[in-house]
Amino acid sequence: MKVIGISGSPRAGGNTDTLLGALLAGVADEGAGTEYVSLRSYAITPCTGCERCRKDLTCTRFFDGMHLLYPKIEEADGLILGTPTYNYNITPEMKAFIDRLYPLLSFRSRTARPVFELFSGSRQKGARLLGGRADKTCRAGICD
Ligand SMILES: Cc1cc2nc3c(=O)[nH]c(=O)nc-3n(C[C@H](O)[C@H](O)[C@H](O)COP(=O)(O)O)c2cc1C
Repeated sequence: MKVIGISGSPRAGGNTDTLLGALLAGVADEGAGTEYVSLRSYAITPCTGCERCRKDLTCTRFFDGMHLLYPKIEEADGLILGTPTYNYNITPEMKAFIDRLYPLLSFRSRTARPVFELFSGSRQKGARLLGGRADKTCRAGICD
């Protein structure tokens, strides 16, 4: 069992990193393997919606930091996404990351679901799955 904690905070060692570290420590206490990833360390170009990934099943528009993260994400059993709240929303780093997960979606379903449900681990019929699996992901929004 491997869980990756992904920080979308531009600020090193801030609240998001601290809370994510605590969550990963709890996961490790339960015996699972953990890895901490900071999106600050990866160049991630925002998705342009070219839709090539629907055919190519990976992003062939950009060859950037996401190609270092795709294998990690596919191998992981769980993801914890941590982001500060910036103007009532996730940070640009986290948004670019989530949008660039588009190639990992199963497009077999035409069921309309909000993008954020992508990670919710729904096992209902017709749910969109990440990497073909109904992975569970915990999302943490950090604010004052
Ligand atoms: C540009 C910017 C926008 C923010 N917008 C919000 C907000 O809308 N709501 C909120 O509660 N906090 C907001 N905050 C506060 C941060 O979410 C909060 O300080 C957070 O803990 C910072 O996380 P960090 O320590 O990982 O950087 C904002 C901070 C910044 C820098």
